[in-house]
Amino acid sequence: MKPAAFRPGIYAVGAIDWDRRLFDSLIPLPDGTSYNSYLVQGSSKTALMDSVDPAMEKVLLRHLRELGIKKLDFVIAHHGEQDHSGSIPAVLREYPEAKVVCSSKCKGMLMDLLAVPEEKIIEVQDGETISLGDRTLKFVYTPWVHWPETMVTYLAEEKILFSCDFFGSHLATTDTFVTDEGRVRELAKRYYAEIMMPFHTNIEKNLEKLKEYAIDIIAPSHGPMYDKPDFILNLYRSWVFDPPKNIAVIPFVSMHGSTLQMVDYLTEALESRGVEVKRFDLPVSDIGKLAMSLVDAATIIIAAPTVLAGPHPHAVFAAYLANALRPKLRYATIIGSYLWGGRTEEIIKGMLPNLKVELLNPVLIKGLPREVDFNNLDQLAGTIAEKHKTLLNI
Ligand code: FEO
Repeated sequence: MKPAAFRPGIYAVGAIDWDRRLFDSLIPLPDGTSYNSYLVQGSSKTALMDSVDPAMEKVLLRHLRELGIKKLDFVIAHHGEQDHSGSIPAVLREYPEAKVVCSSKCKGMLMDLLAVPEEKIIEVQDGETISLGDRTLKFVYTPWVHWPETMVTYLAEEKILFSCDFFGSHLATTDTFVTDEGRVRELAKRYYAEIMMPFHTNIEKNLEKLKEYAIDIIAPSHGPMYDKPDFILNLYRSWVFDPPKNIAVIPFVSMHGSTLQMVDYLTEALESRGVEVKRFDLPVSDIGKLAMSLVDAATIIIAAPTVLAGPHPHAVFAAYLANALRPKLRYATIIGSYLWGGRTEEIIKGMLPNLKVELLNPVLIKGLPREVDFNNLDQLAGTIAEKHKTLLNI
């Protein structure tokens, strides 16, 4: 994609990564991603907002050459993670007069991760500004969106917020601005679940902090820009502030079918009591979809057979993930089948310290489920339905 001006002297110069399918060797990218970088020209100085992933540095440099950029004064590094900072050394080689502008915490990261020389870095404090002549960049610290050093830049004259990871979506598209709201809602929610949800208390504070800024455009560093900022701001508010919904999530794994029988039975028992169920067969599931389901769910039921005296490793991964993502869950429990004992309940329970949940009685059975076990699953479904009704006033 060619560099595109979306305001006079302001260009999108980043790179689209159509084919990337995994981020951090962990997160699925079903729709690719982009590393957005923006060029802002003032009457006297020029700034580049973030760089791109090192795999795409040639694209960024080509875009700058195509625009005839001979001199860069500032490279604003909102975030130290390499998908945005990783091409800064290449930019500094091409534009040796440029200085890197970043938060205090980001400075050390850029020196440690990218060997950016200290003398090339200008450290800015929260609320500090830099003039480009007729345009002013204001830096606003927004810690933990996504790392502790993250900040955003507000360009007051144009009411543009350069937000880096904050409000992003992993989406490769030729759209400069959001056109397909349904698609972006889905991918922004996936992004929120995987990247932002663990820091939701900081997101709350950062959303409050941004309230004082009149914003016409949000320009994130992944996915299309928002020319209707309320679209994404309202989504974030709902994901962060709304109570959980009448949803039970069941991540499960079954080796010979006993645990699957329990999951099938519990699914119907919950459905018949009005509880929406989202199920994930862990060995073949997209963990991004599991993460997304946890944004709204009130209950998680981890379903695991016992193997080698503990929970199946896929269930261990699901418990670890749920604990790390810190969703708004209120209730949790475990179901599954064993044959000669083990520590499944103890191990999974011990893996959920971050969740502010009430632990409901587990249903762990020997071998295939019998009538008494189905009765216990009915009882569990009834308890979950009642808890949800009380929680949600339904
Ligand atoms: Fe897109 Fe935290 O990097």
